[in-house]
Amino acid sequence: MKDLKMVFIIGIILIVLIVAAVALEKLKAERPETVLSPGTPYNLVTTFKEDTDTSRAFTWYTEDAAAAGRLEVVKGVEASFDGASVIRIKAEDAAIKTDKGKRGVHKAEVSGLEPGTVYTYRAGSGKDGEWGAAASFTTAEADTDQVTFINVTDSQGITPADFAVWGRTLNKAAETFPAAQFIVHNGDFTEEAEDSAAWNSFFSNVDSLVSRIPLMPVTGNHDEVEEQAAEFTSHFNVPDNGAKGSIAGTSYSFDYGPVHITVLNTEGNLKKQAEWLKKDLAGTDKAWKIVAFHRPAYGGNTYKKLDDWALLFDKYEVDLVLQGHNHEYSRSYPLLDGEIVAEGEGAAGASRGTVYVVTNASGNKFNEKKEDQFYHAVHFQNNKAMFAGISISGRVLTYQAYDVDGNLLDEFTLTH
Ligand SMILES: [Fe+2]
Repeated sequence: MKDLKMVFIIGIILIVLIVAAVALEKLKAERPETVLSPGTPYNLVTTFKEDTDTSRAFTWYTEDAAAAGRLEVVKGVEASFDGASVIRIKAEDAAIKTDKGKRGVHKAEVSGLEPGTVYTYRAGSGKDGEWGAAASFTTAEADTDQVTFINVTDSQGITPADFAVWGRTLNKAAETFPAAQFIVHNGDFTEEAEDSAAWNSFFSNVDSLVSRIPLMPVTGNHDEVEEQAAEFTSHFNVPDNGAKGSIAGTSYSFDYGPVHITVLNTEGNLKKQAEWLKKDLAGTDKAWKIVAFHRPAYGGNTYKKLDDWALLFDKYEVDLVLQGHNHEYSRSYPLLDGEIVAEGEGAAGASRGTVYVVTNASGNKFNEKKEDQFYHAVHFQNNKAMFAGISISGRVLTYQAYDVDGNLLDEFTLTH
């Protein structure tokens, strides 16, 4: 009798294990496989690398690790790629080992463009039938005092359903801020950086947006693991003006109109980045300074290791710090020397101090709300994907945070 009971229990355990294994395989099978000719681009994304008013950078993958990368760019919207006016550029081609085998990584940049001008481009191997779809972009106006951009963080998915939420979030953001000239993603793109199907899903849900609006990446703790970030950095062609001694492509800065944006990597080499940050902030004459990084300096918890950075934000009067990691919404009062700048509570907005935000997550993962801190102006967990739009017009910066359904949940202004 006892034996029979044991057989029964073992039988049940076996059935549960088989069902779990089948479910996992089904989940994986549901993830999109790319069906492309071997040199055709996928995971195509545009970024800024040098001057935002005269150049543009691009990155894409190919199934064929040895495929050539070619970029063709032409002025105007309805472009043909046949004429003499087509700019033809050879990409820097490399190969990367992924969990699905070797793939080609192609990075290209076009420069010498006219400011405030529409261009159309296509990427491919140069062979017939191996070009991606054409897309258009607009270079920044020269000397403009206006800018609008989108901030999102922690898309951090595994399944297609996770990335469908990310896709809905970014599409809603682009619909809400149609003038957005670029996107800053504050890190944790995927749950596991080596999961190439997750990256494919990340890009395929937003391909019509990120092929024309630059996506500027910040490194999260899921993007750099044990001082290794090759899968992450392989996807983005960003400025190489960052901190020496920090992984290339994880710290950099760029200007767009009236704003200087500095991207830092909280996953290592913090001291080296502090030295670089000091020079970077001292070296800009832009009216507005925004810094973006993943683990928060002030965001429901405080990452003490970032104290050196915060001193520099005070010294160089950084206006806004974009953060991620906590998967909840958090917005500080303007802070200076770790204390609230009292005037920040007025309707006109603060003209001194630094505001620190975490715009929840843009995917499907939410954490329990952390304890309120003295510096919190707004702090909540709505368990919904969110995005923010940041607009600068002359002396006024406006920040607006929405949920994925388009409800405005927080808003503030800063003035100079
Ligand atoms: Fe995260």
